[in-house]
Amino acid sequence: MRIDIISVLPELLQSPMQHSIMKRAQEKGFLEVHIHNLRNWAVNEYGQVDDYQYGGGAGMVMMCEPLAKAIEQLSSERKPVRPGHPGGYDEVIYLTPDGEMLNQKIANNLSLKGNIIMICGHYKGIDERIRQHFVTKEISIGDYVLSGGELAAAVLVDCIGRLIPGVLNDETSALFDSFQDNLLAPPVYTRPEDFRGWKVPDALLSGNHRLIEEWRNEQSLKRTKERRPGLLENQ
Ligand code: 6GU
Repeated sequence: MRIDIISVLPELLQSPMQHSIMKRAQEKGFLEVHIHNLRNWAVNEYGQVDDYQYGGGAGMVMMCEPLAKAIEQLSSERKPVRPGHPGGYDEVIYLTPDGEMLNQKIANNLSLKGNIIMICGHYKGIDERIRQHFVTKEISIGDYVLSGGELAAAVLVDCIGRLIPGVLNDETSALFDSFQDNLLAPPVYTRPEDFRGWKVPDALLSGNHRLIEEWRNEQSLKRTKERRPGLLENQ
């Protein structure tokens, strides 16, 4: 899978892609992440990519032309990823607090795409016409406001990237993550068995795999009922 990210602050995105699972996913060839500086498509030699908003009011708006040119150029460079694929991007995603709230189901679906492009907004956001004519999906990572879409894009790349088949091994398998089946993950413990008199639950020490699985299922359900009862209604 290939992910292209367009941003006015590419530096903000570099580091999250260079460690741990995202690093391994790229080294193993499962994931390619390309970060582009929107100023490469600026409208003048000053690197201008934003302007005052029509109707007045504080805050700049990211202009149509640099974004349209960036999306069009990168799209034209994307060849079919398999026979029958139309080429171009499978999704053009705009990260915005008024988008659809990210969840595991959306991440699962996106992890099956061949290539996607993400647009990070800044200031007051991007000109509405880019949203209407280029963007195919708008995603928010929660009901709070960030200064820009970069950290949200990093979150999205991470949660998609780790779901690409082959990226995780048995030890890190996504099958048992919280949310993968609309349940929160059960508690986990490691050595020692007794830390300051705080004991590891007997079931986990029993060596009985059926008992352990039962205990984990019970704990998942209990935790979900207590903390996120709404998840159980979505089954
Ligand atoms: Cl995707 N962008 C910004 N700027 N703020 C957010 C967000 C995105 N998701 C939640 N808050």
